[in-house]
Amino acid sequence: MEQIVQQIEAYKQEIAAFQPKTAEELEQYRIKFLGTKGLVKALFGEMKSVPNEQKKEFGQVLNSFKLLAEGRYEEFEHLKNGAADASAHQDLTLPGEPHRLGTRHPISIVRNKAIRIFERLGFTIAEGPEIENDWHNFTALNLDENHPARDMQDTFYVHNNPDWLLRTHTSSVQVRVMEEGKLPIRIICPGRVYRNETISARAHCFFHQIEGLYIAENVSFADLKQTLYYFVQEFFGENFKVRFRPSFFPFTEPSAEMDISCLICGGEGCNVCKHTGWVEILGCGMVHPQVLENCGIDSKKYTGFAFGMGIERLTMLKYQIKDLRLFSENDLRFLKQFQGAV
Ligand code: DAH
Repeated sequence: MEQIVQQIEAYKQEIAAFQPKTAEELEQYRIKFLGTKGLVKALFGEMKSVPNEQKKEFGQVLNSFKLLAEGRYEEFEHLKNGAADASAHQDLTLPGEPHRLGTRHPISIVRNKAIRIFERLGFTIAEGPEIENDWHNFTALNLDENHPARDMQDTFYVHNNPDWLLRTHTSSVQVRVMEEGKLPIRIICPGRVYRNETISARAHCFFHQIEGLYIAENVSFADLKQTLYYFVQEFFGENFKVRFRPSFFPFTEPSAEMDISCLICGGEGCNVCKHTGWVEILGCGMVHPQVLENCGIDSKKYTGFAFGMGIERLTMLKYQIKDLRLFSENDLRFLKQFQGAV
């Protein structure tokens, strides 16, 4: 055994001095030391002639020798397949592969723009679940039991009795915040909503809303109008007309809708404005005293206004998009047009 160990020491020195320049030399080394008829294998074969009490020690010597021989081979592995030649000719001054950046979705761009404007007026963001119960989506908001919006044709129900549904508006978030009872409240609720609608250029079974709610002492309709005028001016700029129309919502009294002159056809009439020259962009009103009471707020002391708008509609007007289905088709030719917008 002494002899073999000495031999191994000599091989070790040979390995340490090994400096191949070509794949050919490396292959010679592999055959000599690591091949099926190579030295490492042969030395392991000697194991059987070593006396039992020395087997352990000899095994350790062999193992470390094997690791050394393999390690040296791996160090020069790059010589294989002409890799050494390729790296010699690599031009490190060439420009790198560009990273392709995605673009923000137009709905996100517009949602963020709207949030930014309301933030300047002191509104903070509130969020809530997309699967809602009947109370938060309908009952607390004064929609009575037979209201058509509750109909299976309008609402996606996930579960009956108790009723769980996909929220049809983000007004449900307003209810949740009012129930928390921290006053005053000044929030906006951006989020996705669902309705059982036939899909067309103007409607989809899911879309996005931003709703707002301001409740404090002495909040008036004038505050509502001023807030919304400020918003549309900041959002659309200068060249359009605005009008307020009386309307009805069960959760506000009085209620109104706001229209702006159609930015797609300039008021001449198109499919987006249904050939009227005006597009409704939001519903609003003074929060109904019954809704305040439903949520545990003293309606004698507090008043408030609320509003709700569809982000898709705002986006169509802002970017002159005539078909709302484009937002969810994932067509890169469409999405890439928003590259520069943030
Ligand atoms: N929730 C209404 C809808 O989805 C929009 C709306 C109207 C929200 C008036 C409000 C509001 O908060 O006051 O059509």
